[in-house]
Amino acid sequence: MALVFPAWAGAYLSGMTPPPTSRPVALITGASRGIGAAIALRLAPKHDLILTARDATRLAEVATACEALGATVRCIAADVRDAAGLAEQLAGVPVDVLVNNAGLGILKPFLETTAEEWHRQVDVNVNALYHVTRAVLPGMVVRGRGHVCIIGSMAGRNTFAGGTCYAGTKHFVMGFAESLLLEVRDAGVAVSVITPGSVDTDFFPEGTNRTWMLDPQNVADAVGFTVEAPAHMLVHRLEVRPLSTKRPRAGHGDSATAS
Ligand SMILES: NC(=O)c1ccc[n+]([C@@H]2O[C@H](COP(=O)([O-])OP(=O)(O)OC[C@H]3O[C@@H](n4cnc5c(N)ncnc54)[C@H](OP(=O)(O)O)[C@@H]3O)[C@@H](O)[C@H]2O)c1
Repeated sequence: MALVFPAWAGAYLSGMTPPPTSRPVALITGASRGIGAAIALRLAPKHDLILTARDATRLAEVATACEALGATVRCIAADVRDAAGLAEQLAGVPVDVLVNNAGLGILKPFLETTAEEWHRQVDVNVNALYHVTRAVLPGMVVRGRGHVCIIGSMAGRNTFAGGTCYAGTKHFVMGFAESLLLEVRDAGVAVSVITPGSVDTDFFPEGTNRTWMLDPQNVADAVGFTVEAPAHMLVHRLEVRPLSTKRPRAGHGDSATAS
C-alpha cells in the first residue's frame, strides 16, 4: 500500500522546509468588522490569531466566533496609527501571516477634503503599513518564512473624481507591495496584495445599494487562497470583483435576476 504523507511533507523530506510544529499565527488589522472580520473567520480553522482594531467590543465578538472555529485568539484594542503602542504589544511575537487590512476611504473632491480627513487616510492606509509591517517582518526574515498580505483596492489602479486621497493611498499600496516583495522574497517571505472591487461593508455610507457588491467572505476566500498557497508558490496580486454592477448577488434581491 502506498504511503500517504501530509501536504507539507514533500518539501520537508527534500530538506527545504522544517515541519510545522504548531498552528501558524496570523495578525489581522481592522478585524472588528467588514473584510477584516471575514478574514479572521476564514483563517481561524488553521491559524491562531492576533486581531486588532479600536472597537474592543466588536473585536471580542469576532474573537469568540474564531475561537469556536478552533483558533486561539489574542485581541489588541488599539488605533493602528499608534506605532509605539503596537510595536510594544507585538515585540517578540512570532507572526507568520500579517494581513494589513485596516483602512478607510473618505471619497470627496480634493477641495472639500479637510486636512484631518487627508491625514487620517494617509496615516491609516499608508503610514500604518510601515509600522505594523516593521514590527513583525524582522522575525519572518530571521525564521526564513512568512507572508505579508495587504488589502489594496481597485482604486489602486483606477482613478476617479473624489479619489485624490483614497486612490492615492491605494496606488501607494501597489508600489509598496511589489517593492517589498523584491526585497524579501529570497529570505522566504511572501508579499501579496488583494485588490477588491466594491464589497458590502460599512466602508460605504448608509443608504448605498450594496446588493450587487461582493460579500466580505469573497475577499476573505481570496486571502485564504493566497496565504495558504504552497510555500514555493506566490500569488502576488489578486483582483476580485463583482461580476455585475446591475445584478444583485444571490439572496440579496430579486431571485429572477440573482445568479
Ligand atoms: N468595502 C470595499 O468596497 C473595499 C474595496 C476595496 C478595498 N477595501 C479595503 O478593505 C479594507 C477593509 O475595509 P472594509 O470594507 O472592511 O471597511 P470597514 O467595514 O469600514 O472596516 C474597516 C476596518 O478598519 C479598522 N480601522 C479603521 N480605522 C482604524 C484605525 N484608526 N485604527 C485601527 N483600525 C482602524 C476598523 O476598525 P475600528 O473602527 O474598530 O478601529 C474596521 O475593522 C480597507 O483597507 C479598504 O480600503 C474595501
